[in-house]
Parts: sequence; C-alpha cells; structure tokens
Amino acid sequence: MHMRTTYCGLVTEALMGQTVTLCGWVNRRRDHGGVIFVDLRDREGTVQVVCDPDRPEMFATAEGLRNEFCIQVKGVVRARPEGTVNESIRSGKVEVLCHEIAVLNPSVTPPFQLDDEHLSETTRLTHRVLDLRRPYMQRNLMLRYRVAMEVRKFLDANGFIDIETPMLTKSTPEGARDYLVPSRVHDGMFYALPQSPQLFKQLLMVAGFDRYYQITKCFRDEDLRADRQPEFTQIDIETSFMTEQEIRDLFQGMIKTVFANTLGVDLGTFPVMPYAEAMARFGSDKPDLRVKLEFTELTDVMKDVDFKVFSAPAQMAGGRVVALRVPGGGAFTRSEIDAYTEFVKIYGAKGLAWIKVNDVAAGRDGLQSPIVKNLHDAALQAIVQRTGAANGDLLFFGADKAKIVNDAMGALRVKIGHSAFAKAHGLFEDRWAPLWVVDFPMFEYDEDEQRWVAVHHPFTAPKDGHEDLMDTNPGACLAKAYDMVLNGWELGGGSVRIHRADVQSKVFAALKIGPEEARAKFGFLLDALQYGAPPHGGLAFGLDRLITLMTGAESIRDVIAFPKTQRAQCLLTHAPSPVDEKQLRELHIRLRNPQPA
Ligand code: AMO
Ligand code: AMP
Repeated sequence: MHMRTTYCGLVTEALMGQTVTLCGWVNRRRDHGGVIFVDLRDREGTVQVVCDPDRPEMFATAEGLRNEFCIQVKGVVRARPEGTVNESIRSGKVEVLCHEIAVLNPSVTPPFQLDDEHLSETTRLTHRVLDLRRPYMQRNLMLRYRVAMEVRKFLDANGFIDIETPMLTKSTPEGARDYLVPSRVHDGMFYALPQSPQLFKQLLMVAGFDRYYQITKCFRDEDLRADRQPEFTQIDIETSFMTEQEIRDLFQGMIKTVFANTLGVDLGTFPVMPYAEAMARFGSDKPDLRVKLEFTELTDVMKDVDFKVFSAPAQMAGGRVVALRVPGGGAFTRSEIDAYTEFVKIYGAKGLAWIKVNDVAAGRDGLQSPIVKNLHDAALQAIVQRTGAANGDLLFFGADKAKIVNDAMGALRVKIGHSAFAKAHGLFEDRWAPLWVVDFPMFEYDEDEQRWVAVHHPFTAPKDGHEDLMDTNPGACLAKAYDMVLNGWELGGGSVRIHRADVQSKVFAALKIGPEEARAKFGFLLDALQYGAPPHGGLAFGLDRLITLMTGAESIRDVIAFPKTQRAQCLLTHAPSPVDEKQLRELHIRLRNPQPA
C-alpha cells in the first residue's frame, strides 16, 4: 500500500478509470450544494477532487477541510462532465471521484490567499514557506533546477570536473566589499567569504586539472538592486589551453543548449561587439539590443556652437555630446519630456535638451526647440543628417563628461525603449537578444582614488601586442575579456588570464599595487605562476540572473528560495541578528555601538 501513487498535477486521461492515491494541499474547497469540490495541489499542479455525499464519513471530512490542509485522497479518475473541461491545466480533462480522505495535518488560517496576485514582497518574504508553495515560485525553482542539471550535463560531456573551493578564505579582488568572518583561534584575524572562486580556479589550472567548474555561492557586500543579491550563485568555469575564441564558442554553446533543452528556444548566433562600439552606440557595456534606439555622435560638430551647454563638453578632454533619436517622439507632451529630464538627473545629467522635428524640408524653421537659436546651420544640418531624423521625431541631447552622458542617455534609451510608446511604435522587439561584448579596456581611471583600476580583475591578460601600453598608455590597453549579455543584463563574464609572473607584476605596477602589497595579497598566486603555469582562462555566469531572465520574473529574489531584501536582511529568519556577549568574547570582539538589550 503506497502512501501516494501519483502527483496531483500529473493525473491525466492516461489514468482514466484507475484508482489513485494522492497527497497534497487544499488549494480551495468549493461547496456546490450537496457536492464538495476540492482543488488539490502539489508541486506538479492541481487536480479537481469530487466528494459526493453518498459516502457520509468521507463527506463529513471533506466538509471540515480548509485551505492548506495537508490531505491524502483515494479515488477513481474519471472524465469531467462536458462543458467543465479546464484547458489551462494538465489535469483539466479529468477529475478524481473521492472514496476516502485522510487529513494528514490541518493548517491554521494562512496569512494570505495563495492566489492573491498583489501580495507585498515583505509579506511574501516574511511567510516565505507559504509563498514558496505558490505555483509561480514552484515553477521558478523547478526551472532553476533543470537549468543547473543541463549545465552539469553539458560540462560533464565536455570534460569539466566539479571541484569545491573554500568558503572561509582570503579576500579576493572582484571589487566589492567583503563579508568577513572573525577567527576564534586567531585573535584579531578574519576570513573573507569569497566574492568568487577566481584565484582558486586559477590555482587548479596550475595544478593541472585542466577543466574545472563549480555551481557555487559568492558573497559581495554591495548596494543591492533588482539584479543583485549579497549571496548569489555562479556557474564558475576555468579551462587550460583554450583561446579566447574557443572559450566563447564553447560557452555560447552551453547557454544555447540550456535554452533549447529547457525552454525550447533557439538563441541563434550571438553578435560579437567590441566594448568601444557598445559605448559609442548605446552608452552601455550591456546593451539591450531589443531596443531599436541608438546614439548619434555629435561631439565634433558642437565644439564651436554658441551654446555653452554643448560646446564646453565638446571641447573638454573626455567630454561627449550625443543625440538620441526617438522616431515618432514628436508626440511626447511637455510633461513627458519634463519627466524624462528628471529621470536623467538620477544619473548626474544636468538637463535634457530636445528638438522636435516638425518639417525637415523647412530647415531651421521646421525644428521646434528652445536651443535651436543657439546652434549654427552646420550644426543643425549635421544633427538632422546624422540622426536621419524624419518629421514627427524627437531628438534628445546629452552633453557632459562621457561617463555621465553614457550613463544618463544609456538609461534614457532603455527607459523609453521599454515603454508602452516604444512597443506601440515598433521601437522594441520582443525577442531574446544575446550578444558578446569583447575587447574591454584593461584599466579605467578612478577619479576619486586618482589611479588606474582593473576593469575586470587584475589577473586578466592584455590583448596580444598591448603589453607595452600598460606602461605607456594604460587607457588604450585592451584586455582579453568578454561578457555575455542577454536582454540588457550582464549574464556572465570572464577573461583569458595572465599565466606569467612577469606580466602579472607589470599589471600590478600599472595598478600601483607595490611588490610588498602584491606579495601580501596574492603571493600564493604569484608563486604558483612560477611553476610552469599553463595558459588558461574562463568565465562565470550568474545563475540567479539567468533564471530571472528565463522565467521572466520581476526580481532576482523570485528565483531564490530564501533571498535577502534590498537591505540585505532575511525576513524569514531575521538575519542578521545580535549575538550574545559570550560569542563575541570568544571571537575577541567588542562592539562600538552595542545593541540595546
Ligand atoms: P563577475 O564579477 O563578472 O566575474 O561575476 C560573474 C557573473 O556573476 C553575476 N553576478 C551577480 N549576480 C547576482 N548578484 C550579484 N551581486 C552579482 N555579482 C555578479 C553576473 C556576472 O556576470 N571571477 C570572475 C569571473 C571570471 O573572470 O571567470 C567574476 O566573478 O551575472
Ligand atoms: P539652459 O540653457 O540651462 O536653460 O538649458 C537649455 C536646455 O538644455 C534645457 O532643455 C536643458 O534641459 C538642457 N540641458 C542643460 N544641461 C544639459 C546637458 N548637460 N546635457 C543636455 N542637455 C542639457
């Protein structure tokens, strides 16, 4: 006698006439004058259970059922009466005529209706167990599992082996703040939780393991956003003896296989775009190619206009002036334009100049804007020609330091591109838009710290022939680094690594990391590189981000069983929380701001 013979959600015509035993939760109980219907739910879906009064004992139990009771039902599968078929669920053609019910465990009244679609996230995260029972969350986590399995199968078939790396370790340089763990044994010493297994996977290559992977947690104490969690999961990969191109080809294949085998989607061939082109056209190193809007470069023609807002950045080193043409945007109202102006200010823009193109043939008179009077004919002509503006278009302008223009106008491009207006005007293509962004710079200048910092991480190899630029012109030195981007999200990134200690020292020098500091922080890596380290490289994918995109979930938290809030708290367990004085004493810690008891 089995406790259960099949899942509720898998009861179909195939079981017609058979006796089944089901276990699940009462999704809903409906009293239909004499007959009680119970929608019984488990992880595979729901099935309708029919309770007739001709079995009085069973019927009495059915009358007492409430939402979320855990019950066992024994009954016979039969066709639903004509007109009551529910095409939207797998079990929708059949129902189970109930013979016996056992209440395995009643439930107190849940704090919310599980099918309420307007639950606040606070409610959901506080009552996460019940939230996880909802079909939406069950689907998300099941897909997550299937994707992880596809990844493992693909990597296994390609000779990659799973090797674990430590969680209690030394700080790794991925650029975020570390989570620290105090040592009890060593007074005043701390472990860092890994921001990624970066250095260990490189050591594994030196050790000869050749092809490594791990699906593992990484920890970064950074400001959280919709696509970030303080602890998140990477599909982390490293290989020896493969070129940049070979690495990209293999892992493009992996992501394509995952999409094909789980969603039945063919992602096609991924375009490959140099970083410089991505910044020039979209102001972003993770462009959303579904959005059919692009920048037009105007820096060169704005140098001598009689409009300081444009001419000053155009003349300044590192300044930039661009237009963003919005076809049909002439229909935007003043208040819409004002709202976009406020929006770009979030990104540091000082304003958002615009021109409405009423009549291209009328020249200057056909352009409606407060700034037209300040622009000479050649500038206006260049604007119209280069943007390809047509009657009824709106042109937005950004002028500032390149970084501000790129951030602000890049965000504006996405904001408009995702709007209902864009969807109605064919400016947004509803499709999967993957691409590789390649040829990243090795370094970017950090204005605050007044020094060059690594764009990827300091173990990334320069492009062949770019080694000497590290001394002479760091800003022009390109890296063998690559990111995979999907629908405007950075899905993964990696690089070919430096495998020679002399080149590694040069990079540290460019980053103003002195020999002593390098030794203290990365001595173990520098030492390892001296023992015939093989050429190697790899990448890491953000599993949470991948699943968020694949499920269409609104936030990364919807694909993680027990996530943290934007303020890095777990509302279910109430972490982080105070610890008692004894624990602190053992760890040699005295609090600066003791919590009131
Ligand atoms: P990187 O820092 O680019 O590279 O991280 C790799 C991928 O991890 C995901 N990711 C995150 N997902 C959720 N929350 C976060 N806070 C978060 N941070 C990163 C992103 C990202 O593309 N060691 C290198 C990889 C390598 O060079 O091999 C690394 O960690 O999808
Ligand atoms: P002002 O001369 O300051 O009134 O600005 C004229 C127009 O230029 C207004 O539409 C401003 O929003 C816009 N503007 C001001 N600063 C910038 C900037 N840095 N980039 C783009 N437009 C700007």
